[in-house]
Amino acid sequence: MGRIAYVNGRFVPHGQAVVHIEDRGYQLADAVYEVWSLFDGRLADADGHFARLERSLAELAIAMPMSRRALTLVLREAVRRNRVSDGILYLQISRGVAPRDHAFPNPGVRPSVVITVKSLARAAVEAKAAKGVSVVTTSENRWGRCDIKTVGLLPNVLAKQKAKEAGASEAWFVDDLGFVTEGASSNAWIVDSDGRLRTRDTNANILRGITRHTLLRVIAEQGLEVDERPFTPAEATAAKEAFITGAGALVLPVIAVDGRKVGDGAPGPLATKLRRLYIERARAGAV
Ligand SMILES: Cc1ncc(COP(=O)(O)O)c(C=O)c1O
Repeated sequence: MGRIAYVNGRFVPHGQAVVHIEDRGYQLADAVYEVWSLFDGRLADADGHFARLERSLAELAIAMPMSRRALTLVLREAVRRNRVSDGILYLQISRGVAPRDHAFPNPGVRPSVVITVKSLARAAVEAKAAKGVSVVTTSENRWGRCDIKTVGLLPNVLAKQKAKEAGASEAWFVDDLGFVTEGASSNAWIVDSDGRLRTRDTNANILRGITRHTLLRVIAEQGLEVDERPFTPAEATAAKEAFITGAGALVLPVIAVDGRKVGDGAPGPLATKLRRLYIERARAGAV
């Protein structure tokens, strides 16, 4: 059975799923998106992702195309039709289709909604996590509203390509003061040389990761503390451990930064444990 996509009220074969050439998402990146990880065919961290979606839309004055309840039903139906158990659901909402003009269409148009679902081979994902991944660093060059999850991802695209060409999986943006902001599609963490968990605070110009948020709760339940304070790439390579979080990565150990080992160059025990605890929590809470 082939993949099925959702486009503006219709479920269609993936290969025939199209939007209009004057969709503002396509022409102007005037669109937001969300990504849910799927466990047992259910949406992980559902409320957090819905809340961030609503916030991203509100910040850009794009209307929520339907109620959260109705959207939940559509997302679930997309998962069901694709018969996906473990995987990823992608939702994109653009301001809609209108003759090309930078300013908002007046009168307004209906937002466009696109949903795709893909399966992930859990065994391959776990094998990757057991090996850990490398990251490279790159200069922060994004706009000032990285808290909004827009499809304007060109700096992230270029950063990921740089990582790929270096044989790495992720790129960490580094700001003018020399501190890591976040990854191209993940939040960045270390267990510093004093053994303290550290990650950038969300007052910085970063995406407020939902996986990050849930993991903070998991960590608190373990009686551990997190220092929401920036770190440099040098502190990352001097750290005991490093890892990234995101709906795709979940909690993924980082074993090298710019070719320099983190710790002994193998996934750290705390990152490995937090990955297990996060997955348990996400699976149990998925809806
Ligand atoms: C730039 C960026 N930071 C962080 C994240 C992690 O966010 P979440 O945990 O909500 O997936 C993502 C996820 O795609 C991202 O694109």
